[in-house]
Amino acid sequence: NQTPGKLTVMAILGTVVALVAAVLAAAQGAAAATCTVSAVAGFSSCSGSSSVLIKGPFTVPAETVATLSVASGGKATVTGTVTFAKSTSLTKSDYLFTLQGSGVTFDGTSGVFNGNGASYWDGEGSNGGVNKPKMFKVSTSGNSVIKGIKLLNTPIHAFSISGSNNLIESVTLDNSAGTSLGHNTDAFDVSASNIIIKNSYVYNQDDCLAVNSGSNITFSGNYCSGGHGISIGSIASDKTVDGVYVSGCTIVDSQNGVRIKTVYDATGGYVKNVQYSSITLSGITKYGIVIEQDYENGSPTGTPTGGIPISGVTLSGITGTMASGYKYSTYILCAACSDFTFSGISITPKKASCTGISPTPSGC
Ligand SMILES: *[C@@H]1O[C@H](CO)[C@@H](O)[C@H](O)[C@H]1NC(C)=O
Repeated sequence: NQTPGKLTVMAILGTVVALVAAVLAAAQGAAAATCTVSAVAGFSSCSGSSSVLIKGPFTVPAETVATLSVASGGKATVTGTVTFAKSTSLTKSDYLFTLQGSGVTFDGTSGVFNGNGASYWDGEGSNGGVNKPKMFKVSTSGNSVIKGIKLLNTPIHAFSISGSNNLIESVTLDNSAGTSLGHNTDAFDVSASNIIIKNSYVYNQDDCLAVNSGSNITFSGNYCSGGHGISIGSIASDKTVDGVYVSGCTIVDSQNGVRIKTVYDATGGYVKNVQYSSITLSGITKYGIVIEQDYENGSPTGTPTGGIPISGVTLSGITGTMASGYKYSTYILCAACSDFTFSGISITPKKASCTGISPTPSGC
């Protein structure tokens, strides 16, 4: 009689099917479960999760940095304020927060990272004085998105972007409290490729954008106040920049508007394919447009060198006003520059000095 055997086989099969279903359901539940970071230890214990909630308020203790690695394709959300206590031993080589992962979405729309900058600022930035860490290292890749987060009072640099293929949008850097003592508070330092930074607000005391190397970098629809302008450089030896597209940006109460600078005597690199279009300036205290190949930190030499050639620079629709006491509305000091195409340059009052570029671009 085969019937009991068949029944047994069917019963076992049914049990196996039910078990597999239960395991699958548990796995799905685990994937959907959100890992909550409500104290510093959570950054490491939630790393590897595909759904992370960074839930302020809490404080990251002094002398401590936080690193979050989100699972591939996962998401991290920030609510409330995470404050980073003042450290004495962390230096400009350290980052208070590092984000890692591929294809991740980091949504800080309801969150603030407070770097406690005022307890560090001494007017010397990263050039001296007390040790100061950088704020937010973007080490993500693979079409990751970082949006909405507000960085408040970063000791020095805010976003340091070293990972490629990232979109950063609708973020804010508010270092307006550092007007007198904040220094080197760059908003976006980029050494990476395929980067888009858009629709963001910056109140700081140094570059709004500083491209140090990389290719295919788009910077659009951003507002920059109080800083040093939208910059490529300083480009050092062996660094290359190919493709920077800046459009639809507003720069107010800043030292410079549009800037490209290569380091004096540097060699082995290049800057090419740069476009700035529809840039509105006001209250610019030094240079509306500045392209110089004599740069040294703090004090340009006045003698340009051609070891890092600059080529293919298109400026269109750069308009606005200088502040009283300004130096030049357009200043070009080149040793190896070529293919400059300027149109729609209207910066008032106009006062230009352009050397080392032929033919002389409009606006000069
Ligand atoms: C430039 O970067 C954008 C954004 O990351 C990307 O979509 C595009 O494919 C890149 N272009 C090239 C030529 O790599």
